[in-house]
Amino acid sequence: MAAAVMAPVLIGTAAAAAAGDPARGEAIATSRSLGLCTLCHALPGQPPALQGNLGPPLAGIGARLDAQALRARLLTPERFNPDTLMPAYGRSEGLQRVAAAQRGRPLLTPAQIDDVVAYLAGLR
Ligand code: HEC
Repeated sequence: MAAAVMAPVLIGTAAAAAAGDPARGEAIATSRSLGLCTLCHALPGQPPALQGNLGPPLAGIGARLDAQALRARLLTPERFNPDTLMPAYGRSEGLQRVAAAQRGRPLLTPAQIDDVVAYLAGLR
């Protein structure tokens, strides 16, 4: 029974990018308490007052970067700019003076990262 349940999950990891839900990803990216991407980025469809401009606008980003490249921007932004302002959304170690409730936890879970990648990949 367990093997039958596990098999599709293992096969599914190769297509992890496709596993994300774009609508959930948009909600995460535009949330003022979760992704907070609009602190720094302009996102399509957001009110002008909530469009950040510290980072590049993300309209059309799905046409420039594929899912793997988008995921890398979210997980290890320092690979592309060692001095980047952008937070590493999947990191949970090496952080200092993090609020107790957040200690040992990434900003976004792997499933939430999948959702945001699916949303970004669809911005064309
Ligand atoms: C505190 C500011 C900040 C926040 C918050 C932030 N980013 Fe960024 N992001 C940047 C900056 C600045 C860059 C440009 C790269 C650099 O120079 O650091 C960038 C680059 C990117 C890129 C690559 C853009 C390109 O044209 O190559 C993507 C994709 C991206 N961010 C997605 C996101 C998403 C999605 C979120 C929310 C989950 C987010 N960012 C949150 C600052 C931020």
